[in-house]
Amino acid sequence: MTREITTHSAEETIAFGRTLTELLAPPKIVLLRGDLGAGKTTLVKGIAAGFGAAEEEDVTSPTFTLVHEYRGPRANLYHIDLYRIDTPRELQTLGLDDLRSDNSILLIEWGEKCPRFVRERDVEISLEREGENGRRIRIAA
Ligand SMILES: Nc1ncnc2c1ncn2[C@@H]1O[C@H](COP(=O)(O)OP(=O)(O)OP(=O)(O)O)[C@@H](O)[C@H]1O
Ligand SMILES: [Mg+2]
Repeated sequence: MTREITTHSAEETIAFGRTLTELLAPPKIVLLRGDLGAGKTTLVKGIAAGFGAAEEEDVTSPTFTLVHEYRGPRANLYHIDLYRIDTPRELQTLGLDDLRSDNSILLIEWGEKCPRFVRERDVEISLEREGENGRRIRIAA
């Protein structure tokens, strides 16, 4: 299954994220692909809001904390950013395996750094810049 959309503002990307609850029903491992500033975190704002797990403005980048958790009535979302991870040992220290459960959704930015997640992912979402505010979003599930 693939879905594709082009958004023209951050608000539109958030609104699109809100529509993904059915597709992302737990358990899921979701890889978010795209360059710096592509809109991965922005999309997660909409996804977390759609699941009733967080207000969109409360979803911020886990760049330094590496993992943010948002608990909703139907799913626990874990927003993970591996940008600052450099070694397999650092990755292991994060203990991401412990986050996997029947009602968890792992939303992973820069997940390419973890070959296991690339192999075991259920859904891949790619975001590509098109000009200043355009973003092409492609979902493969
Ligand atoms: N159509 C759009 N969709 C999403 N974000 C947009 C769009 N147009 C402009 N933006 C802006 O682009 C930026 C996207 O930043 P965001 O933190 O979501 O990117 P990211 O992919 O998570 O980057 P990083 O890899 O650094 O974490 C925001 O400043 C947002 O306002
Ligand atoms: Mg981000």
